[in-house]
Amino acid sequence: MSQLNPAMPLGVFDSGLGGLTAVRELRRVLPGEDIVYFGDTGRVPYGTKGREVIISYARQDIAFLLSRDVKTLLAACGTVSSTFPAAEGDALPAPYLGVVGPTTEAAARATKNGRVGIIGTEATIASGSYKAALEPLCPGVETVGAACPLFVPLVENGHFAPGDPLVELTVVEYLAPLKAAGVDTLILGCTHYPLLAGAIGAYMGPDVTLIDSGRQAALALKARLEAQNLLNPRQSGGATAYYVSDAPERFSRLAAILLGDENPGAATQITIEKYDLRWIRKGYRPATD
Ligand code: DGL
Repeated sequence: MSQLNPAMPLGVFDSGLGGLTAVRELRRVLPGEDIVYFGDTGRVPYGTKGREVIISYARQDIAFLLSRDVKTLLAACGTVSSTFPAAEGDALPAPYLGVVGPTTEAAARATKNGRVGIIGTEATIASGSYKAALEPLCPGVETVGAACPLFVPLVENGHFAPGDPLVELTVVEYLAPLKAAGVDTLILGCTHYPLLAGAIGAYMGPDVTLIDSGRQAALALKARLEAQNLLNPRQSGGATAYYVSDAPERFSRLAAILLGDENPGAATQITIEKYDLRWIRKGYRPATD
């Protein structure tokens, strides 16, 4: 690892392509920063896996990004952010940030009636991460969580527009209990859900504030870079390099949708299993793929 400096890229990782919703926000909030993105498309989904497997995958994802000399590590994935141990994140050689902290802070600021809905993958909801982070910020808060396992495949198959019958059916199925509970704030605790914000917002109604975890993480990362004097002084022109563990063509095709960018550029396939956090810490890098 080189000494951290402002010219280095930001590292962002996710279980697949969903983290591109966070990249889209980073480009808006930090347009001068270069980004190295890793999507674990060969092992997605993480949201149905057990805790130990998710942590071991996240360690390899982080090791890959550190091998690319990034100055920060953003876990865009709600599942990783809910599972990766905070103490391990704090001990990494570059500042590590997950989405749970910034997202719950925004939810605590937004709620007026103290009733907050949380939606995410099965692993995220089972972890209780958002509830645990929210309670100290918002004493007496009532949370209602719902796992929404069909949202990710719907988005990845192009079903996210308001009015799409599959989306409408699924939104009602998952969100009816949260609506009935009278939540006034809803945490979109998964990378893919911002694409469903139109349909979710239409169902929940105008009085419910939707909190986008990618947006909040991008704002928090900017504040962290400023505090640590790691902000790139450039105001524009940041470039993104994409790496995946499988199916780079599919990634690039879907990336155009998630980024809202017609030409996101090609992705490079790497062998993620080669990357080991213990070796990277000692300065060893795998031979290039
Ligand atoms: N990226 C994951 C998340 O935000 C969703 C997809 C998956 O299950 O891996 O939780």
